[in-house]
Amino acid sequence: MTIPGQIPCHIGIIMDGNGRWAKARGERRTHGHLAGLQAAKRVVKAAADMGVRYLTLYVFSTENWKRTTEEVGYIMGLVKQYLRNELEFYRENKIRLRHAGDPAGLPPDIAAEIKDMCAATGQYSGLQVVLALNYGGRDEIIRAVKRAAEAGEDPCAASETTIAQYLDNPDVPDPDLIIRSAGEYRTSNFLLWESAYSEYYISPVLWPDWTEKELQDAVLSFQKRERKYGGMMQESSGHGSVSGEYRKIKKRSANT
Ligand code: FPP
Repeated sequence: MTIPGQIPCHIGIIMDGNGRWAKARGERRTHGHLAGLQAAKRVVKAAADMGVRYLTLYVFSTENWKRTTEEVGYIMGLVKQYLRNELEFYRENKIRLRHAGDPAGLPPDIAAEIKDMCAATGQYSGLQVVLALNYGGRDEIIRAVKRAAEAGEDPCAASETTIAQYLDNPDVPDPDLIIRSAGEYRTSNFLLWESAYSEYYISPVLWPDWTEKELQDAVLSFQKRERKYGGMMQESSGHGSVSGEYRKIKKRSANT
């Protein structure tokens, strides 16, 4: 799908509403997660077709371990299924898989499968899909601080740049747009550091009902926003990524 206008370089999605979707149909919550997986596949394809460079999907948070053993086990099973079944699709479409979150807290087989698929797709230059799995924004910042200390960084000289380079994916630009489905107005510990200047889009549509149409609506809404980064309106150069614009603005302000 091609849509005119500037496409956000990095989109993050809080995929919410699987449980409500299942409940509305008199089904178990797990049925909602299965339908949520299908929606995730549709949206990955739509994002790739649209020319999005990075897509971060919030699959499982550091807080989601509080759910029942059955639900946690089911979601982990879906993740495993996704990793196994999608490799061919990723290859065909030159999509690169990445992970955000603490691999040490994941079941070892899942951690190993993610690592393998990240390695198998590491050379691809198309869309980069970041699976946020055992991910928490606060946890990521704590782990970044620890990594900085381990690398011998001087805490008294710490800057935004210092911390940013120890985040889970330091080369991935900050998200331009964060989408949340199912009508909730919360960040839920998603990309806390990286979302400092992200635009938010809340959709009432439950995640399992998402198609390329909902993604398109989110991007069209994003295109109407005026991004000021705490300063004044900037004129877009008309080329380069949205995140590229941000970096230029940050560089300019650092020099003044
Ligand atoms: C939130 O809905 C959804 C989750 C915590 C799980 C998300 C998982 C998937 C969509 C499947 C795996 C996807 C991939 C790409 C591997 P909820 O259960 O909190 O919904 P509710 O608020 O209606 O109860």
